[in-house]
Amino acid sequence: MDTLVALAAMDMAAVDALIIDRMQSNVPVIPLLAEHIVSAGGKRLRPLLTVAAARAAKGEIENPVKLAAAVEFIHTATLLHDDVVDGSERRRGKVAAHLIWGSATSVLVGDFLFARSFELMVETGEMRALGILARASAVIAEGEVLQLTRAHDLNLDQATYLKIISAKTAELFAAAAEAGAVGAGADAEATAALRAYGLNLGLAFQLADDALDYGGTSEALGKNAGDDFREGKVTLPLLLAVARTKGREDAFWDRTINKGERSEDDFRRARELIIGTGSVSGTLDAAGDYADLAKAALRILPDTDWRDALEKLADFAVSRVA
Ligand code: IPE
Ligand code: IPE
Ligand code: MG
Ligand code: MG
Repeated sequence: MDTLVALAAMDMAAVDALIIDRMQSNVPVIPLLAEHIVSAGGKRLRPLLTVAAARAAKGEIENPVKLAAAVEFIHTATLLHDDVVDGSERRRGKVAAHLIWGSATSVLVGDFLFARSFELMVETGEMRALGILARASAVIAEGEVLQLTRAHDLNLDQATYLKIISAKTAELFAAAAEAGAVGAGADAEATAALRAYGLNLGLAFQLADDALDYGGTSEALGKNAGDDFREGKVTLPLLLAVARTKGREDAFWDRTINKGERSEDDFRRARELIIGTGSVSGTLDAAGDYADLAKAALRILPDTDWRDALEKLADFAVSRVA
């Protein structure tokens, strides 16, 4: 990731300036809350993808910079909404915004950022990019709702799990890269390749996120590990561990996930079982397979430093600790 961050430093400075400029409002709590989450940083992975896709396709950069800011606004809005829905207490190393300003304000400021993202997209006059990101926004919401309706259900199959993570996470990665390519005037083949790269990168990224929820630390993540278990969210590490402890731990999983009766001790036990059965590493192996697909998609692009940096980013998505 460092290579890409260094390469994109100038473009990302322009993206950040645009983000700060467009999150302003005369209603005081809006910039206050927005500044709380924006200044905490985050990896800025999705806007990086938009800028890098434009550069890798050797296209113009003015519209992609605006689209990148729009993409980060969409992401930030979904984080504000997601932390309310998930009841998460920490985000980007800080107290989650809804615990400071309340859920209502947090959701509404999320809506504000969403709306700002659409203003930015319209300014580019790039109808195709607008269509790509509008569709992605709808798909993300579908993914979050689908996940909500399938929590506490250990009968969830892996295909439905993949559908959920594809919608809630990978779609925005795909759209971020595709919009960057379109904004840069890339041809159809390069645009499709960058979209495929983004989609597979997004799947790898969310699989790693789900592995880190059991195998990572809250300190490094800047959000609480264990949130998925506490919410009864059914993710791949859990599904693998349930299958691998079949006949031995059925009652434990039924009580903690299906019935939702669990304590912090139960989380520690679940984590032991998940790590002990190799289910965190099994999830990371699956993430690695998608990272390989992402890298393969890049092959048709011109051989540039940008393409190399995108390849490295795919490995980072899997090996990351934060
Ligand atoms: C968090 O995304 C939401 C997921 C899709 C797991 P990031 O891990 O990219 O969040 P920030 O922007 O770096 O904080
Ligand atoms: C991330 O889902 C997807 C969106 C925010 C749309 P998670 O709920 O797994 O993300 P974290 O773990 O809260 O960052
Ligand atoms: Mg969450
Ligand atoms: Mg998570």
